[in-house]
Amino acid sequence: MVQQVRIAALSEIPVGSSHEFTAAGRVIALFNVDGTLHALDGVCPHAGGPLGQGQLDGCVVTCPWHGWQFDVTSGQHCLTEAIRHSSFPVTVEGDDVLVELP
Ligand code: FES
Repeated sequence: MVQQVRIAALSEIPVGSSHEFTAAGRVIALFNVDGTLHALDGVCPHAGGPLGQGQLDGCVVTCPWHGWQFDVTSGQHCLTEAIRHSSFPVTVEGDDVLVELP
């Protein structure tokens, strides 16, 4: 069942930033790309690194553990089409950031 969970205040997520939150028992990585928010599963599929603590450059986040890179707008790995990380729809209501989780 899909659930919409408030994970942050919009004012906490400046443009160009990465953040890590926990919600509904999951780790969520939240990114602000030019004013649009994107959410990925916060656990890197390589070895479990914290994607929400990665450096965001444009729409690409670099995992702080071993450097895998993902397009945060889609979850697509930047070097191989075979890896597409889970992403979640984000909506903003007032100052509330809501993420749709399966
Ligand atoms: S855990 Fe993310 S690149 Fe290795």
